[in-house]
Amino acid sequence: MEKAQDPLRAEIRGLLSRRNAILLAHNYQRDEVQEIADITGDSLGLSQEAAKTKADVIVFCGVHFMAESAAILSPGRTVLLPREDAGCPMADMITGADLAAYRKEHPDAVVVTYVNSSAEVKALSDVCCTSGNAVNVVRSIPPGREIFMVPDRNLAHWVQKVSGRRLTWWDGYCPTHERLTLEAVVKAREARPEALLIVHPECPPEVVEMADAVLSTAGMYGYCRRSPAREFIVGTEMGILYRLRKENPGKRFHIASRTLICPNMKLTNLEDVRDSLETMSPVVTVPEGIRVRAKAALDAMLAVPRDAA
Ligand code: 13P
Ligand code: SF4
Repeated sequence: MEKAQDPLRAEIRGLLSRRNAILLAHNYQRDEVQEIADITGDSLGLSQEAAKTKADVIVFCGVHFMAESAAILSPGRTVLLPREDAGCPMADMITGADLAAYRKEHPDAVVVTYVNSSAEVKALSDVCCTSGNAVNVVRSIPPGREIFMVPDRNLAHWVQKVSGRRLTWWDGYCPTHERLTLEAVVKAREARPEALLIVHPECPPEVVEMADAVLSTAGMYGYCRRSPAREFIVGTEMGILYRLRKENPGKRFHIASRTLICPNMKLTNLEDVRDSLETMSPVVTVPEGIRVRAKAALDAMLAVPRDAA
């Protein structure tokens, strides 16, 4: 397998250099895609890193909203999403028209939008958040203001609990994380009583309740690196295991359930990356009017102090 892919890897590296392109892979991508990527990370972190480089072309191995974020932060560059059909069902659960209708009925609400959303929805938002900074973003909103979070009900539920602020939210969810049941987590804990349970806040509240730590994907890397524990049960998409194992050779990682696979995150393979660089398609663009407003919501998030209390 490894050997058969070598000419393909060389071809991709050659094309990357010829196109002055950078290859980004989200933490949930297939192992072989993460392995060849210039940068791996969470969706926003990748787009921020790409914006700092001098690359003319950004190849985003992830899903559509992530490539849009790269286009929002890097105007004037070409953003490629090797698989046009790689979408995010949670991001698709709310449209710009849905959010515009909500805003009409609740003109005073502060709309906090998870980066797992379309550019159009971001453009209609006051401030964005990631799973890593959502609590701080909500805490930075003046007390007494009505706060509406979209699109993830599970993230909103967890943020409400940790921040102590009262929220309302859109009823969206990630179908992959939603599949992690309390029963599966209880079973995993029984099988590995020594292991720490770390979960993503996109998981259902009853699962989050059981966890030793609730973390974004980027947060999981830091937590497992620093923790003296030797064994972890991981409640997020299983692509994360690749780097966790690579960075922590002395530690053991178990997926909380074998159902934790996001089909969209697994679509992109090395052939797709090669084809995309060869044909310079599919290109993801964001209309300028939407881009400017979506960037304002991302900038509002970046202006929130990390330790807002
Ligand atoms: P993060 O990498 O931002 O934690 O996001 C998780 C996710 O579900 C991305 O699709
Ligand atoms: Fe969307 Fe969930 Fe897949 Fe992430 S893991 S891309 S939130 S469906």
